[in-house]
Amino acid sequence: MPSSDGPRAVAEPRARVVLVGFMGAGKSAVGRRLARRLGYRFEDLDRRIEKRTGQKVAAFFQERGEAAFRALEQEEALAVSGLTGVVVATGAGAFVQPAMRALLQQGALTVWLQCSLEAALLRIRPDGRRPLAGKSEIMRALLAEREPSYRQADVTVDTSRRTPREVVDRIVELMEGHEPGKTSVRP
Ligand code: S3P
Repeated sequence: MPSSDGPRAVAEPRARVVLVGFMGAGKSAVGRRLARRLGYRFEDLDRRIEKRTGQKVAAFFQERGEAAFRALEQEEALAVSGLTGVVVATGAGAFVQPAMRALLQQGALTVWLQCSLEAALLRIRPDGRRPLAGKSEIMRALLAEREPSYRQADVTVDTSRRTPREVVDRIVELMEGHEPGKTSVRP
């Protein structure tokens, strides 16, 4: 079991679980499975934006720029912050913006899917779908810049060497408070 798990767990399930973390951490793959396991609905901020704009994220970035994307992302974060019985997968930049982070934290269990850069790079296909994906040194710097924000999630699960199913098992275990001596966080 990777030692970066924890350090905190929740004693009671919450109505909304929000998955945060870097590109390639498994937010969408884990989110879909976790929702199924919990009997919750699955929401993906990027897919909501694509549905709303009728454009793929990469095309939107190219045409309208990152600031316009973040504005839409924040509106979608606000929309999901009113939903219950839902697992939300965020884009890797969402939890980094303080206002969006505050929205996503409201009444939710936030889970940082932590992942080594090496594992993330293996999972990120060079298919142009991620406008901010680049050379490994650029990604390393971006991850280092974002980690302090991800660390503000309630719990952390390392996904580097776990399958999505194993990650889901671990999240459910944390939600059920199976870890002895662990207590609830953030009301
Ligand atoms: C972004 C990550 C993407 C998507 C957009 C911006 C980022 O989501 O929201 O391209 O800022 O790193 P994934 O984390 O699903 O790749």
